[in-house]
Amino acid sequence: MRHRNPNRLGLTGLAAGLALLACAGSAQAAPDAADLRERANLVFGVLPSEAQNPENTVTEPKVVLGRMLYYDARLSKNHDVSCNTCHLLDKFGVDGDPTSTGHRGQVGGRNAPTSLNAALHFRQFWDGREPDVEAQALGPPLNPIEMAMPNAEAVETVLRSIPGYAPLFAEAFPSDEQPITYTNMGRAIGAFERKLLTPAPFDAFLKGDDDALDAKQLAGLQRFMDTGCTACHMGPLLGGTTYQKLGVVHPYDDPDKGLEEVTGKASDRRMFKVPSLRNVAETGPWFHNGKVGSLAEAIRLMAYHQLGTELAPERIAEIEAFLGSLTGSVDADLVAKPELPASGPDTPAPDPS
Ligand code: HEC
Ligand code: HEC
Repeated sequence: MRHRNPNRLGLTGLAAGLALLACAGSAQAAPDAADLRERANLVFGVLPSEAQNPENTVTEPKVVLGRMLYYDARLSKNHDVSCNTCHLLDKFGVDGDPTSTGHRGQVGGRNAPTSLNAALHFRQFWDGREPDVEAQALGPPLNPIEMAMPNAEAVETVLRSIPGYAPLFAEAFPSDEQPITYTNMGRAIGAFERKLLTPAPFDAFLKGDDDALDAKQLAGLQRFMDTGCTACHMGPLLGGTTYQKLGVVHPYDDPDKGLEEVTGKASDRRMFKVPSLRNVAETGPWFHNGKVGSLAEAIRLMAYHQLGTELAPERIAEIEAFLGSLTGSVDADLVAKPELPASGPDTPAPDPS
């Protein structure tokens, strides 16, 4: 349609103009998508397609093996706990419980964060005590309340007793004389996790698709940036790049010392890794203690404790709608439970003690 000189608007044009005005008055004008995209691309950025590690190149044989190990409960003392027990890949990489249950029903002190996109974090765990997913994967099998194996050698004994694992480790680590090691288990699981990335409608929006976000989500994106959430939740994960104190403006009462547990420094008290907000609508309950039962409440607490802002419910709802645009998916074939190689005659029996 050609633009018309407003002075020469006919009667119909005038009526249409008035109708437009009436519309604009009844609902808040939607933010301009192009402007928002430009701002958002400076702060966030599209999710990469793979999380690379120069020291552990992602190869197909490692990913195939890593997926099996991720699901293999024989890496636990009683053959009943695997990575997937607490990071269910058909439940956005979480177990949905405030804190997780491991060996002999023992309950841990922190909420299980999602394994999806975790490979892109600058550090692993709420307190960042491990540098990457390869190192992180060496923790749970030996954690007495998680998988409860006595030591790395015991895990290697199990892996070497399962005949089907020998060719798979050999293929994944072709230059190693003894490919079945505890460290290589971590590398294979890590390589698998490096594929667990979840592109979402928000990425489509960042790349130029105006329709990927609806008006409420656009308003929420603007609100998220204008409120100052992006001071901490930035980068393609909307987090995962820094430590920050929980309770910057208004103190947050919680016994967990966070990073201080790792460094012993009082100045690190209640410093936590800023979590990624990818899939956050699906990974409740929220916060390191799993005590926050709704996403809206998590947003309200964040605004209050981190920014000293009291957000009205409709503002919270906008931000919540925007966070919903971060829900993505991984290739179903990549994460489906694989068939595991059968135990051998020497595979140790489950030990419930
Ligand atoms: C019994 C439950 C349980 C099991 C089993 C378990 N995890 Fe976890 N996982 C957790 C909890 C709880 C945390 C957070 C602990 C913390 O931060 O101190 C965590 C943290 C992580 C993280 C860090 C994510 C982030 O945002 O920092 C990754 C990655 C991860 N686990 C992967 C694995 C893998 C791989 C396995 C198997 C080798 C595994 N987990 C087994 C409960 C479990
Ligand atoms: C000063 C830094 C900072 C600011 C600003 C901030 N956050 Fe956070 N955010 C954090 C930290 C740190 C955590 C982890 C809290 C914990 O220990 O449980 C977190 C956790 C969250 C969680 C829970 C994630 C999960 O998986 O449990 C949500 C949701 C969230 N933030 C949203 C927001 C929103 C929305 C805003 C703006 C209103 C905001 N944040 C502002 C640092 C910040």
